[in-house]
Amino acid sequence: MIIVANWKAYVSDAAQAKKLVAFAKRLASTTKIKLVLAPSAPHAALLALGNRSKVAFAAQDISPATDGASTGESTAQTYARAGVTYAIIGHSERRAQGETDADITEKVRRALAQGLIPIVCVGERERDASAEYLAFIRAELAAVLTPLSHKERLGLIVAYEPIWAIGKSAVEAISGNDLAEMVLYIRKVLGEYLPHKAPAHVPVLYGGSVEPGNVRELAAASRVDGFLVGRASVDPVSFAGLVKALRA
Ligand code: 13P
Repeated sequence: MIIVANWKAYVSDAAQAKKLVAFAKRLASTTKIKLVLAPSAPHAALLALGNRSKVAFAAQDISPATDGASTGESTAQTYARAGVTYAIIGHSERRAQGETDADITEKVRRALAQGLIPIVCVGERERDASAEYLAFIRAELAAVLTPLSHKERLGLIVAYEPIWAIGKSAVEAISGNDLAEMVLYIRKVLGEYLPHKAPAHVPVLYGGSVEPGNVRELAAASRVDGFLVGRASVDPVSFAGLVKALRA
């Protein structure tokens, strides 16, 4: 089980960021759950450099550019050398800023080339009675997976984050049954792109209004491998609550 804490732009104070990391390190020593923290870009290097703890760090996004004449870009190589080991790619909040499928593929390749594990986000905008969202998820997965080699595909983590469920409360999040269906569906599609490999080889996470109050039910109802958490991950009480709920 893995929890990825996507701090988004919630934590702008470096002292607060340091405190959250210290808290996560203490928490990590009490659980087998893998904790991955995704601070903002300026804080990532500050916090991850020389990291040898059980807590790992993720970039919230990486540049599709390589090192060199690319003003303002934070490259995969820069993150990797700063001690970061994962990269969130294709988050709906980045896609909303104009990130394309081609950008996402490029970013995945850059991440893998630098030894970063890409956490590729997919998710439909809304649910419809005729289940068009299944075709939408398939298309998003296909756009990422098709250009990649078999070996590259095996290096991914997929995060299912339905846009309608992000930034709400636990009661508005997905139900356990619906999540179970989506995880099976995503694994089925992954299986089509990974012949001769168990689709379970690629971990599937869920994100969207995960809180201490619903995380246990979501984990119990589905075969999800972990969670990508926004708001509840920047409050130590609810972050610890997530870990406790999954342990209980
Ligand atoms: P919330 O947990 O705040 O809904 O955010 C989910 C998310 O977008 C994580 O990447």
